[in-house]
Amino acid sequence: MSFQSSRSFSSQPLRWGILGTGSIAKTFARGVRDSQTGTLVAVGSRSQESADQFANEFEIPSRHASYEALLADADVEAIYIATPHPLHAQWAVKIAEAGKHILCEKPLTLTHGEAMQVVQAAQNAGVILMEAFMYRCHPQTAKLVELVQSGIIGDVQFIQASFGFRAGFNPNSRLYNNELGGGGILDVGCYAVSMSRLIAGAATGQGFAEPLKVVAQGRVGESGVDEVAAATLSFPGGITAQVSTAVAVNLENTVRIFGTEGQLFVPSPWMCRPTDGAIKIIVSGKENREIVIEADRSLYAYEADIFAQSVAQGSVVAPAMSGADALGNMKALDEWRKAVGVSYPAEKADSNKPVRGELEKQKSAPMIYGQVANLEKSVSRLVMGCDNQTTFAHGAAMWDDFWEQGGNCFDTGYIYGGGTQERLLGQWLKNRGVRDEAVIIGKGAHTPHCNPEALSRQLLETLDRLGVSGLDIYMMHRDNLQIPVGEFVDVLNQHRQAGRIRAFGGSNWSLERVEAANDYAKQHNLQGFSVVSNNFSLARMVDPVWGGCISASDPASRKWLQEHQLALFSWSSQARGFFVRGARDFTADEELVRCWYSDDNFARLERAKELAARKNTSPINIAAAYVLNQLSPIFALIGPRQINETHSSMASLAVTLTPEERVWLNLESDSLES
Ligand SMILES: NC(=O)c1ccc[n+]([C@@H]2O[C@H](COP(=O)([O-])OP(=O)(O)OC[C@H]3O[C@@H](n4cnc5c(N)ncnc54)[C@H](OP(=O)(O)O)[C@@H]3O)[C@@H](O)[C@H]2O)c1
Repeated sequence: MSFQSSRSFSSQPLRWGILGTGSIAKTFARGVRDSQTGTLVAVGSRSQESADQFANEFEIPSRHASYEALLADADVEAIYIATPHPLHAQWAVKIAEAGKHILCEKPLTLTHGEAMQVVQAAQNAGVILMEAFMYRCHPQTAKLVELVQSGIIGDVQFIQASFGFRAGFNPNSRLYNNELGGGGILDVGCYAVSMSRLIAGAATGQGFAEPLKVVAQGRVGESGVDEVAAATLSFPGGITAQVSTAVAVNLENTVRIFGTEGQLFVPSPWMCRPTDGAIKIIVSGKENREIVIEADRSLYAYEADIFAQSVAQGSVVAPAMSGADALGNMKALDEWRKAVGVSYPAEKADSNKPVRGELEKQKSAPMIYGQVANLEKSVSRLVMGCDNQTTFAHGAAMWDDFWEQGGNCFDTGYIYGGGTQERLLGQWLKNRGVRDEAVIIGKGAHTPHCNPEALSRQLLETLDRLGVSGLDIYMMHRDNLQIPVGEFVDVLNQHRQAGRIRAFGGSNWSLERVEAANDYAKQHNLQGFSVVSNNFSLARMVDPVWGGCISASDPASRKWLQEHQLALFSWSSQARGFFVRGARDFTADEELVRCWYSDDNFARLERAKELAARKNTSPINIAAAYVLNQLSPIFALIGPRQINETHSSMASLAVTLTPEERVWLNLESDSLES
């Protein structure tokens, strides 16, 4: 949803509420008081006493004894979150859902998984979200970006950024307590990473850049948090950054940017103190220069003003930290912490919780459902592919979101990630207590283990990894034509009778073999295949994506599916990006060219574009709707890596196509659709 601002920058002051009454909350309250655009109207605390004390000090009219009450205060337009890090995600999501703008203290969240949920919630609600990196709001930082862009130091090659201080060891303090998200990386290392990403972006013509690689080391202390840590970040364009942080020792706390012609030195990059000097320019063969920044407000007053300006214009004013920028930062911080060996309760399979405390199906959930023979549960028509998660925290964020959008069907496989995917999904099902409502698809017996014995062995292992007694749907991952189909039907029925599987079928099975399996089942009074998982998409697969994989997009297969009403779980329903990136002159993606480029497919793409323009949607949504609007029951497998990708697939659920439109899109004049 795009944000529509209802206020203009020069209108009434932005009405702030402050959530939490600790040390930075006071600093920010002073900032709002000194700002040109804000006014403090309310504060929320866990206690009335603390709220009153804070409100008295800053002359704030409304003082609430809970954060919920602050969110419900109709007088408040924007809320500043000033709690310890582990509370950021849940309150940011709730504030978004209360329809208020969010300025959230850094780090935006504990993990990239949580950050995806916050960014999506803000986008759904159409509110401004900014991570409170105050240095990004100061004119000194804007000047630094301008200098890098001007090329004054030539091509940027190396960046050094440090932020670290010595806080006496106290395992109960926010900085040293693992449960409160302690450690230098999240407390101030995040500044150094955000600065490197900003400068690498400025040097390569973008707002910010993402590291291709993060290599790191550090010392984890007795309370389980990083006390000293450093990382090397490799950026596109051959730029290297060295970042360092600490809570146990004072660091230099400066930024140096080295280019082919010289260097920029920033003595006070974070607090932007004019007394420390400003930006020093050292260019070979020229006299050193120093640029002094004219600042007329305090650092936090700038932050409040830039935020108000962002609200007025409907997007975060660069180089202040937008949601997209924050997501990249959180990802790099995840990698830095992982390398150093610091993790928090929110990342562990037994203590992670949904961002709202518990799973809540959203009122706006767009999901639609269908039925599969031999299975009582309804099945979501979009199926979450579980083959690409690397951590529990990330997987849980993705799956929570899918569940809250109404998704209940999850597809995984024995060979995915050497068992990691099945284990992660199993941990999530157990933690969230949704095993009974979920529809779990397991796949096994992939070539070269496609035989009844291997099928049985792998199935038992799959159930063990998932921690469940049975699968709702089991699919053979491949077929083996050397084995008579009846042998597979027999063994599948044995597992069904033992309660290990319910509905079953085959992935990448020819429809002839499926029909043979079902003839055999009928003759022997056994359960036959109720599902098949082949490719199905508007674009026809020209060359198989993987060896031995099969498509059912051709008219004969569509006719067969329609007649038999067998459920198809289609993979590559969106032709692996053909409807987003496909173009005759785009040949950089060799796989796209090999599998999908044909004159017919380009003609379908043109029609998808034309129809998308008429229906005010995107060609990819038209392509997905083509699949979901077939007359046979089709369930589309999706494989999003990020929450925003899940949501973009969800948009296709709202698109309906008439039979005539489907025939036209597919360049056919057949009677299949009648
Ligand atoms: N941008 C900056 O310059 C800057 C500087 C320092 C800190 N920060 C960030 O600001 C956040 C808060 O840091 P801080 O130094 O202000 O922390 P703090 O002094 O400990 O204050 C945190 C406040 O959060 C509330 N809170 C809620 N649950 C809590 C819990 N379980 N334990 C402790 N406090 C809890 C409390 O307010 P109530 O009792 O009123 O609910 C408390 O006063 C952190 O995320 C930190 O990274 C930013």
